[in-house]
Amino acid sequence: HLYPKGPEGGFAHEGLFAKWDTAQLQRGYQVYKEVCSACHSLRLVAFRNLGEIGYDEGQVKAEAASWQVPGVDPNTGEATMVEGSPTDYFPKPYANDIAARAANNNAIPPDLSLITKARHDGTNYVYDLLTGYREQPAELVEEFPEAKTAEGQYYNPFFHSLNISMAPPLTGTGQVTYGEGNPEPTIEQMAEDVTAFLAWTAEPTLVKRRQTGWAFLLFLVFATVLAYFSKKQVWARAK
Ligand code: HEM
Repeated sequence: HLYPKGPEGGFAHEGLFAKWDTAQLQRGYQVYKEVCSACHSLRLVAFRNLGEIGYDEGQVKAEAASWQVPGVDPNTGEATMVEGSPTDYFPKPYANDIAARAANNNAIPPDLSLITKARHDGTNYVYDLLTGYREQPAELVEEFPEAKTAEGQYYNPFFHSLNISMAPPLTGTGQVTYGEGNPEPTIEQMAEDVTAFLAWTAEPTLVKRRQTGWAFLLFLVFATVLAYFSKKQVWARAK
């Protein structure tokens, strides 16, 4: 299979001057919510965490309430789905693995909280996987007949076995509507946004870690200068 290379120009949270692009993370959250969450859970993330990507308290509450999570009916005491609150975690789309398999050609859609860490070069990989669907090359099938894409599968050269049981989730403009001032939701744009969002869910402290690195380098420079002058002073009278 192909090695991932990620979007043109890379991600805002990568490179020397890494920073989170909160507008992008919010678009990515929207794509997760409106597309991916039908099949994939995000079990390590709570609604309150959305406060870290630029939503204020009221917006976090409203977002939480827009999701249904497992709860208890206050009148009957029976288990039922209720509106989410900020302390709840993102809900699972299926009751269990059997239900997940039944709906997905016998494959389980993995939890996406840590997916960018769970795969090699995961951030670029997720982007390439989402944008990498194509016709299976005839030469490939000729040479390796057993690699032919089966019923219920889709050819994707970035997937380890070349054939994946996830239909292309991003299909084009019109799938989501981004707010005023945001770019067009093309397949590439949605893929980049949702991938950035999943990089954030996997390592929300990434940017802080990078910034600590700069502070550390600055300290090293300072300590070196200090060491140089104290050495000069200590040895000033030695011949
Ligand atoms: C697998 C991302 C939407 C069903 C995966 C994988 C990723 C992913 C990263 C893992 C590939 C691997 O194991 O390396 C996404 C994203 C989505 C999305 C970002 C939204 C943009 C969906 C939807 C469905 C779905 C809507 C169901 C209709 C699956 C299934 C697998 C899978 C069944 C397992 C495939 C296999 O093992 O063959 N997805 N997905 N996904 N996804 Fe999605």
